[in-house]
Amino acid sequence: MSSKISPQQGPQTLFLTTEADIAIYGGAAGGGKSFALLLTPLPYVGIKGFGTVIFRRDYGMIFSEGSLWDESMRLYTALGNVTVKRGQAEMRFTDRKGDTISKISYRHIARDDELSNWQGSQICQICFDELTHFSQKQFFYMLSRNRSTCGVRPFVRATCNPDADSWVAKFISWWINDETGYAIQERSGVLRWFIRRGEEIHWADSKTDLIEQFGLKTREEQAEPKSVTFIASTIYDNKIMLSKNPEYLANLKALPIVERERLLSGNWKIKPAAGLFFKRTQIGDMLPIIPADVKTWVRSWDLAATSEDEGGEPAYTAGVLMGKRSNGRYIVADVINRRLSSSDVRATIKHTAATDNARLGRVAVRLPKDPGQAGKDQAESMLKFLAGYNVKAIAESGSKEARAEPVAAQWQSGNFDIVVGDWNEMYFTQLESFPSSKFKDMVDATSTAFAELENVFDITSLIT
Ligand SMILES: Nc1ncnc2c1ncn2[C@@H]1O[C@H](COP(=O)(O)OP(=O)(O)OP(=O)(O)O)[C@@H](O)[C@H]1O
Ligand SMILES: [Mg+2]
Repeated sequence: MSSKISPQQGPQTLFLTTEADIAIYGGAAGGGKSFALLLTPLPYVGIKGFGTVIFRRDYGMIFSEGSLWDESMRLYTALGNVTVKRGQAEMRFTDRKGDTISKISYRHIARDDELSNWQGSQICQICFDELTHFSQKQFFYMLSRNRSTCGVRPFVRATCNPDADSWVAKFISWWINDETGYAIQERSGVLRWFIRRGEEIHWADSKTDLIEQFGLKTREEQAEPKSVTFIASTIYDNKIMLSKNPEYLANLKALPIVERERLLSGNWKIKPAAGLFFKRTQIGDMLPIIPADVKTWVRSWDLAATSEDEGGEPAYTAGVLMGKRSNGRYIVADVINRRLSSSDVRATIKHTAATDNARLGRVAVRLPKDPGQAGKDQAESMLKFLAGYNVKAIAESGSKEARAEPVAAQWQSGNFDIVVGDWNEMYFTQLESFPSSKFKDMVDATSTAFAELENVFDITSLIT
């Protein structure tokens, strides 16, 4: 069994063979990082006094289903004499007499003020799973505990997924393309050196450069510079996972754009930012009048969550009128976005339904349904109030970003035209600032309008 455990070709092998003092294995999701992390102590577990501490941010993450602990149990206990001390979150490699040779411990550091617990300790190998979950202070404090008396040179191994806001993004910036946010392949696994003075990190291409630059004389001083490498990987490097669990890739592909960029493509720069979903320059045309070839219409509403916001003013209610034309293109023909009290919301929806139907023929009305009994009651009362119209109340699921994905994809492909109206500027401004904007009501109404149009389309295509 033990012969089957080995790193995969590529980044995993690089991670296991690198000479760096600190190696950060920072891919996208599912690249096999955590698994490789668990392999890193194995060459040393036969050395008397060797010890590894594997850190996670939360205690619960150590033991959760499919966690490091579970994977470790599977891996290490197949390897030889291992005594498992679950209560102490430790595994001990023992000799034939049962005496401990080396130890792998699982610990968490949730807060900076817990660091003093580690004062005076010596850890030969320090591992961080999900390094971006730890603060810079935690990392560098623990680095000061990275010492050894067992003869193995102390080292640090860490894994993480991209996070543009974390200190790690800055720390590894040399390995990342500043424009695209993707790892620079030729630099993956290349060593650089740093020395930390105060809060400042000084980088160089070699240790000698730093020794000269900082005039490091004594042996202790010269031991100060540490080498670092960053190793990039994505799910495509984890062939075992791709073949065992192909739906994992499909799940990554189905993520909203920011998460997909991070977890599928390993983008270290992407953040939820304005213009990521909709830009006014991506539409086809501004139409002076509503075209005659619209086959399906919907007016979709996003209702204010509460009727009064903190300032006592009612929140926004948005209604987006969207159509699909016989040539397959979409139009947004009208947008209402007003602060309305709850009684005015009902009246506005009804009046709008009457006007839309008189102007355009059959216009479906789509309303959101809040969770719980109250939401159900409210939806039922609205359906009664709007009797005679084609109206549906549908519970929304997933994040607003995830809901906006399908319509944004069509918008970005230039499949939307917009009818000229005095609401245009307000509408474009909110769409362009999504998802970082405070208000998202018009975006959400746009997402649900599109979902409704596509459903209607699906049903008619089934019938004809
Ligand atoms: N060398 C290997 N041998 C056998 N299985 C492997 C190997 N490498 C990875 N795997 C399998 O791939 C799965 C995913 O790997 P892992 O959890 O290490 O990915 P990860 O990069 O840490 O993902 P995440 O970003 O979600 O944390 C593991 O559960 C394991 O089953
Ligand atoms: Mg992992």
